[in-house]
Amino acid sequence: MPGTLVLGAQWGDEGKGKITDLLASQVDAVARYQGGDNAGHTVVVGQETFKLHLIPSGILYPKVTCFLGNGVVINPARLLEEMAQLAARGVDISPSRLKISDRAHLVMPYHPVLDKASEASLGRSAIGTTGRGIGPAYVDKAARQGIRVHQMLRDDFASRVREAVEAKNKVLQGLYGLPPLDAGQIADQYAGYAAQLRPHIADVSRALDDIYRHGRHILYEGAQGTLLDVDHGTYPYVTSSSPTVGGVFTGLGIGPQHLDRVLAAAKAYQTRVGAGPFPTELLDAIGDRMVEQGQEFGTTTGRRRRTGWLDMVTLRYSARLNGIQEIALTKLDVLSGLNMLKVCVAYRRRGERLEDFPADLEVLAECEPVYVESKGWEEDLSQAKEMSDLPPEAQDYVKLIEDSLGLPITLVSVGPDREQTIHRTA
Ligand code: GDP
Ligand code: IMO
Ligand code: MG
Repeated sequence: MPGTLVLGAQWGDEGKGKITDLLASQVDAVARYQGGDNAGHTVVVGQETFKLHLIPSGILYPKVTCFLGNGVVINPARLLEEMAQLAARGVDISPSRLKISDRAHLVMPYHPVLDKASEASLGRSAIGTTGRGIGPAYVDKAARQGIRVHQMLRDDFASRVREAVEAKNKVLQGLYGLPPLDAGQIADQYAGYAAQLRPHIADVSRALDDIYRHGRHILYEGAQGTLLDVDHGTYPYVTSSSPTVGGVFTGLGIGPQHLDRVLAAAKAYQTRVGAGPFPTELLDAIGDRMVEQGQEFGTTTGRRRRTGWLDMVTLRYSARLNGIQEIALTKLDVLSGLNMLKVCVAYRRRGERLEDFPADLEVLAECEPVYVESKGWEEDLSQAKEMSDLPPEAQDYVKLIEDSLGLPITLVSVGPDREQTIHRTA
């Protein structure tokens, strides 16, 4: 039975939450494989809006089991808060529906402190992180100094936490001149979280394999996006995990036979939150208009997102890196009311045409987008149900993207609600 991946093709916030929720009606499980509560996935169902940071966007369907894989970094306080908020709105978050990997790493209270201190020390070169401690948590994982979820099951968990905080206090004080954290208080707090989360702890790799063997359908939900990938993104202006396809396998402990459909969410234009290069960025009234029409403010931090024209160099790069088979094109409705749309099809650098996305940000900084133009439209798209409901100019824009990518756009999203989606066949 099929396994479907929904990942972000750009710099995050492509509408993965909406697309995951949409497809989750047909699956048995949804699994997150990387990132942490730096993610912000919005799901709109009728009058209700859900903003999910850690919990997979399948949680709204009672028959779906949700998983956080070993590749996710889990802030237990945030997870419990999110669980409580969902429970208060009548969503079942019992242990049979929400499982967290015993091998996932914990975000500790010193991680956000280190995140902010590191950003402050970078000054003008700051990355513009979400401040959630995600980078430092992955640093500790790679440095083999992390605390994993299975340790919450041990009697000596509180004393391990206390030791870890005491060790980190040396860094906070010595390196950054910050006050120490209260190790005893944190140890007690984390012991409390452990008691609450214990029933949710599972061997996620084993559980997913069982689901797979029973012929059931699993959806893998990416967080962030391809251009924020620690290896393939605009390094160092990236996140510290692998949102790209490879992250699915290491982040969940499954083999490639589990995956047979790779669908990427891509916005009909481009946004980025935080610092870093953005070749097609618009710093004019059109960019402001995209922010306003698209409500481009971060789900996690509320920051204004930077906006720009669609960049096919990055989309083709993303398609190649991830083996993307289909695109879910989101927020097409936001482009209504513009006379002319531009699409970047290549870069020009020192008189030469570049088709591939460069590794070196100094090279990228010298790149000028090569644009083709596409006629705009005035009509409101938000009620469109079929491609034929779209004005011809909007249909042409969709076709231009498909032709340039050589991939089908199987979903066109024209509003935040589940219903505001045009379904096409691949
Ligand atoms: P994610 O991080 O990829 O899940 O995306 P976010 O939820 O952070 O940001 C996408 C935002 O756009 C959310 O507020 C969605 O409700 C909204 N959205 C999703 N699809 C559409 C669409 O087709 N049109 C409009 N206008 N908004 C959309
Ligand atoms: P979703 O899943 C957009 C960005 C931050 C910053 C960089 C590093 O909602 O698409 P981090 O806190 O991860 O160390 O920050 O990555 N970033 C995101 N941008 N959407 C996200 O998640 C993001 N998660 C992190 O703004 O530039
Ligand atoms: Mg988001």
